[in-house]
Amino acid sequence: MNRNIQEIVSQMTLEEKASLCSGLNMWQTKPIERLGIPSISMTDGPHGLRKQGDLADMSSKTVRSTCFPSGAGLASSWDRQLIREVGKALGEECQAEDVQIILGPAVNIKRSPLCGRNFEYFSEDPYLSSELGTYHVYGVQGEGVGTSVKHFAVNNQETLRNSINAVVDERTLHEIYLRSFEGPVTAGEAWTVMCAYNLVNGEFCSENEYLLTDVLKQKCGHKGIVMTDWGAINERVKGLRAGLELEMPYVGKEHDQLIVDVVSSGELEQSVLDGAVERLLTVIFKAFDNRKPGFTYDQKEHHKLARRTAAECMVLLKNENNLLPLKPEQSVAVIGAFAKNPRYQGGGSSHIAPTRLDAAYDSIMEVAQGKVVYAEGYSLKGDAVHDDLIAEAVKAAAGTEVAVIFAGLPDSYESEGVDRTHLNIPDSHVELIKRVSAVQPNTVVVLSNGSPVSMPWASDVRAVLEGYLAGQASGSATADVLYGVVNPSGKLAETFPASLEQTPAYLNFPGGKSEVYYGEGLFVGYRYYEAKKEQPLFPFGYGLSYTQFAYENISSDKNQMKDTEVITINVTVRNTGDLAGKEVVQLYVKPLDSTVVRPVKELKGFEKVHLEPGEAKIVKFTLDKRAFAYYNTEIEDWFAETGVYDILVGGSSVDTPLSLSVNVISTAIPFKKVTRNTKFYELLAVPETAPLAAELMELSMERIKQMGAMFTDSMDAGLNELFDAVVKWKKYDGLRSIGGMIGGMSEEKLTATIDEMNRKLGL
Ligand code: BGC
Repeated sequence: MNRNIQEIVSQMTLEEKASLCSGLNMWQTKPIERLGIPSISMTDGPHGLRKQGDLADMSSKTVRSTCFPSGAGLASSWDRQLIREVGKALGEECQAEDVQIILGPAVNIKRSPLCGRNFEYFSEDPYLSSELGTYHVYGVQGEGVGTSVKHFAVNNQETLRNSINAVVDERTLHEIYLRSFEGPVTAGEAWTVMCAYNLVNGEFCSENEYLLTDVLKQKCGHKGIVMTDWGAINERVKGLRAGLELEMPYVGKEHDQLIVDVVSSGELEQSVLDGAVERLLTVIFKAFDNRKPGFTYDQKEHHKLARRTAAECMVLLKNENNLLPLKPEQSVAVIGAFAKNPRYQGGGSSHIAPTRLDAAYDSIMEVAQGKVVYAEGYSLKGDAVHDDLIAEAVKAAAGTEVAVIFAGLPDSYESEGVDRTHLNIPDSHVELIKRVSAVQPNTVVVLSNGSPVSMPWASDVRAVLEGYLAGQASGSATADVLYGVVNPSGKLAETFPASLEQTPAYLNFPGGKSEVYYGEGLFVGYRYYEAKKEQPLFPFGYGLSYTQFAYENISSDKNQMKDTEVITINVTVRNTGDLAGKEVVQLYVKPLDSTVVRPVKELKGFEKVHLEPGEAKIVKFTLDKRAFAYYNTEIEDWFAETGVYDILVGGSSVDTPLSLSVNVISTAIPFKKVTRNTKFYELLAVPETAPLAAELMELSMERIKQMGAMFTDSMDAGLNELFDAVVKWKKYDGLRSIGGMIGGMSEEKLTATIDEMNRKLGL
């Protein structure tokens, strides 16, 4: 087959080229048979395949596929390799169903716990989201199936998602919201990116040239295509010009015709369309050539993987008196309708038809050797408190050694398309927990929810297991963790707030009717709670195990590094308990001093390690400039300031027993060109300009001293202190401040100095 893309493009008519820029139907691209251009198929994602049996028929039934834990759960595994395995399985299911692109991973940042789609997203932290998204892409694409990293960008709420304008400052945009896409796009080389519905800083994502071309294509070097979220197109031609290749789904010929018209009239250069078509063909042929006709996968094996994954994702939030793991011989009251009818996935486009579904009640029945009684506790229909159901549950709990209550958010409480308005679980669940725990001190609560909930009952119960939306094997995996077949090792990838009012975006979520202002800036998630010294309900990175870990030692291969070098950190972690277990070792970087506002510390490394009882392992981290850098808006690049940084390591964001310091030396220039307003401190930090800048500083200090003398007779006493304060701040002034009122330098000399500095720097 002819795969010379440029040659094919040269043979295409204008109409054919334009037609390729939108889909064939809901899920496929258009074939052009005369040139051997095939049609490829795509379907949702992200944590399972949602494929309609007949892709051309909207009413056809969804085929069965494995439902893995959704993003929120997957992220709490903090396990790159596990997420790669899940991605591989998704890729295999795509191959078996003749699907060439699966729509995911979804890497948007959890700005507020209220976002209705948080169950699909990984984390509040961009580094963690980026890493996990990358391994998802590795897994899927390793099977010859494409991914579509979504929703690019700043899609952090469902309220007015089609029309809201997210207003976010440039540093925050790069350090938080774009950062989570970086790994999947650059390291992962995702074949496609899906642009979001909303606007970012005044431009729809589907026609945002800054996002689609400057950032994605140029900065990140994305070679694939951008497709719209379903129906996210605004003005088709503007989109094409901005870097959008594919409009999905197909809604009629009009938009293709618009492209034909503007190219024919010369309003849009032919080369813009040709470029888009080349990129489309590259992806289409790659996807088509990687198909594996006749491929089959083992459903049982995938279910086993779903079970193993779900157990790795669960987070043990509380375990007083080591109530967990349960002993098989203990009698147990299994309470709550979720025990028989699990809530295991979220609503909306990611909702799939599972190959099977494990209920916790059945799985507990398989392990338990003592008496097991069941009580429904609440109704799945509506929120009303049913006293009779609760009374039955209380009776069951009083007659057993342990009560396990299955509670959380019903389907109606969280879904794509709507945001939550509160953090509560239904009153019927709360009441049940309160009354059962009043008669049974050994009460465990197992939560099923896609996003943090409030827990006014947390102190009434001995144990809390956060199960998230754990997929089709949620029930069996829960039993595995409850009975210690699996030692829990999940850690929160998001902060659980103490109240809604405490959350960082509280004042600005979901914003007005046309605009949402990201007023909290960089201070999203733990970055906020730490800076404000707020105590959340459960902090980022937190999660218990049935064993204990000791952080014994930390060392590095150097204590000083240039920003062009890397530093290696070795950390010794030991399992000091009696059970084998896994620990997520987290590394945070804390700048001790900075000329810009920065979060107290940020996650820059993590590793999950398995340790046998008594075993110690050395966990190695390699950090480069990016671990220390902030996004400098003047040079539009990452910049690691010269200075001292603490490296903090531990088992959660609030528990970092090991630390060391590293001195980072910048070799980069923090400005594009020296101008009359370039700051002294920046010039002083660059070897080429430092001597001259120091000389000028001295000169201006001399002048300031003289001026000071003019204003006061009492020179000796207070003036020295005053003078010190002036010196301290002077370096943050621009170069021009030595002219003008201070009068140390003429305009002519200033210009000559600027020129000389630029010459020295080759700027
Ligand atoms: C969702 C996407 C999804 C698409 C196709 C949209 O409504 O936002 O995440 O991939 O539909 O189902």
